[in-house]
Amino acid sequence: QTPDPLILALPKVELHLHIEGILSPALKWKFATCNNIQLRHPSTNRVFASLSEYSDSHDPMKFHSKTSGSGDTMNNSEETLSFFEAYYGGFEVLKTKQDYYDLGMHYFHRAAEMNVRYCELFFDPQGHTKTGVSWEIMMGGFREAQEEAERELNVRSSWIMCFLRDSPPEEAMAHYLAALPYRDMIVGIGLDSYEVDRPPSLFAEVFARARADGFKITAHCDVGSCYPLSHIHSVVTELGMDRLDHGLNAAASPETIASIKARGGDAGAEFGLTICPWSYIRHQPLDDVFRHIRTLFDAGIKMAISCDDPAFMEDTWIVENLFVVKRYCGFTDEEMVRLARDAVGICWAPGDVKEGIL
Ligand code: HPA
Ligand code: ZN
Repeated sequence: QTPDPLILALPKVELHLHIEGILSPALKWKFATCNNIQLRHPSTNRVFASLSEYSDSHDPMKFHSKTSGSGDTMNNSEETLSFFEAYYGGFEVLKTKQDYYDLGMHYFHRAAEMNVRYCELFFDPQGHTKTGVSWEIMMGGFREAQEEAERELNVRSSWIMCFLRDSPPEEAMAHYLAALPYRDMIVGIGLDSYEVDRPPSLFAEVFARARADGFKITAHCDVGSCYPLSHIHSVVTELGMDRLDHGLNAAASPETIASIKARGGDAGAEFGLTICPWSYIRHQPLDDVFRHIRTLFDAGIKMAISCDDPAFMEDTWIVENLFVVKRYCGFTDEEMVRLARDAVGICWAPGDVKEGIL
């Protein structure tokens, strides 16, 4: 918890939170029990243990890719899980409209406590349809939570539907078309999951279609030496996306910084990055992470500090992420206020909602 009164008081917008990333072992257990589901990895401690084994490795490949357990004594249910296996495997506990409503409300209550006034929440429909959940159940539950949060908690929101980049582009297109009946809930289309050898340009067709239909578009460019700058270049320039998720690798390249700055003055919502420090310091040297954030900030690039997957990052939310940024980038109170304003500047809320936040 952060004791910083300014950080607690600032009105916030959260632009990089995966709703499934709040599925803590405790929450998973609750849903599994309600739905009579035998968890495939019943030892929730084991999930935590396998995640923390990676956290000190400073090696994102090791963090993201599968490594089998030590083999001899481990049976399947006790295997070491990669982040993505633990993450997507957890979706299996969500079955009913009530589950999706509860998941949404779990976040919205936390958001209200942290003075988050507006959020754009990622969700991965492919991970849910794979387990047999219908769009009506998923979107119906999300919609009820969204409406209640606005009415009762003064937290407004919209959704960013992400495609799984390690699944085929045709599957992304099919999910895009299936989502169109819910387009009033969805402000943008994103790209997430395992990035190695999966450049954003593979999905150019579906993103072009989404943009033509009036959606904002964005993509994850994860942080670490195994993720090439060409992915960032593609998002910022080639595909002309409206936002870059993570993209911190840009800070080491003056040309890439210049290309992001060249996008900064676009009409309407400004171009910016979503930055989730706790998610990087699990596998990147601390000094590099905060030096890079400072470099982007000093270059005038707009960022929204966010929390990514709190249940997988030691229960750290937007306030904890703002706190480490303030502390390790050495930001003054005035600079923290600029950060908060920049996040509002790059969000995709309607003008009157934006004006009401700060
Ligand atoms: N990177 C890519 N995909 C994700 C992440 C992430 O950090 N979190 C949830 N899906
Ligand atoms: Zn993410």
